[in-house]
Amino acid sequence: MQLTEVRQEALEIQDWIVGLRRQIHRHPEVMYEEVKTSQLVRTSLDALGIPYQFPVAETGVLATIGNGRGPCVALRADMDALPIHEEADVSFRSQVDGKMHACGHDCHTAMLLGAARLLKAREAELGGTVKLIFQPAEEGGAGGQRIRDAGALENPAVQRIFGLHVWPRLPVGSFGSRDGVFLAAAGCVEIAIQGRGGHAAMPHLAIDPVVCAAAVVTELQTIVSREIDPLHSAVISITMIHGGEAYNVIPETVALRGTIRATSLEALQHLQQRVREVASGVAGSHRCEANVSFPGVDYPPTVNDATCWQVARKLASSLAGDECVAELDITMGGEDFAFYTEQVPGCFVALGVRNEEEGAIYNVHHPKFKVDEDALPLGAALHVAFALQSLDDLR
Ligand code: NI
Repeated sequence: MQLTEVRQEALEIQDWIVGLRRQIHRHPEVMYEEVKTSQLVRTSLDALGIPYQFPVAETGVLATIGNGRGPCVALRADMDALPIHEEADVSFRSQVDGKMHACGHDCHTAMLLGAARLLKAREAELGGTVKLIFQPAEEGGAGGQRIRDAGALENPAVQRIFGLHVWPRLPVGSFGSRDGVFLAAAGCVEIAIQGRGGHAAMPHLAIDPVVCAAAVVTELQTIVSREIDPLHSAVISITMIHGGEAYNVIPETVALRGTIRATSLEALQHLQQRVREVASGVAGSHRCEANVSFPGVDYPPTVNDATCWQVARKLASSLAGDECVAELDITMGGEDFAFYTEQVPGCFVALGVRNEEEGAIYNVHHPKFKVDEDALPLGAALHVAFALQSLDDLR
């Protein structure tokens, strides 16, 4: 495989990739509502003559390039946006108030279409199958789990999977990842604190859930700081407190919400158990009751296979130069790519998109999040390189 050729081919279709990305960016759709995005993916695949299955997990698209037999490699992109109002100053700003591609999934989808185009042109030399997974609902909807459970990794059996994520902390033109756990296991927590409402002037006649909630939030901080080995990683963040409507009324209830993260599902489950015990205990001491639940699907940690990262690192070095490939630390972000790597060896790679001169400095999930689009052909090229190299290795 000639990597310089792949890189050149990707640069030649940069405008096409960027055009698709901007079209998706203008029309952000949140989890399981990726109707237009999915339509654009299918229209693009149709134009390229690439067959696909649809619908898979509601809006998901599963495309295939190659001879339909093994060896088989999968490349994955997520399609969903976030409920954030865009404040980035770009000409292709979101046209939907309150929704934005603030996690770069528009880039991921466009890069995978770019890779699809390049791989289709090389279909005769593939000697195996490349599956392209365009999945819904990465942001909290566990779309990866649903499309996996719908059989995306079977027939033929996927032997390696690869995914990219735009990374605002890395400069454009660079890549990074690591062996083993790369992203955290993550889940949501909800705590409903039940007190007894009343007049704020007579607190002794009420049971105040606000004071109780404050104590719960404070006490939860001691789980990570006092119970977790300082050399291990864990997070408990309470991010929402809702309660009360008037300055002179003690409310009946206060609702807390937040996120819990750890580096394994077992550690996550342990933290959940402790959150339940601490919240219930503190609430009891305040004469309140805490109803603790963990809604949604807990994401497992994203674990990179050592060989897959070796392969990806080598290819990224050839594409971008040794000095532009970084061994990254674990990040406590969550990612439903984890559901694929639970089942098959894979690698999730960070793609640098930072460019201070262009104002591409904000983190993902920020309303001013922006990427340097010069990263997109590089990402498409790495997708292609990973597929070609893996099919070679597995043959
Ligand atoms: Ni994301």
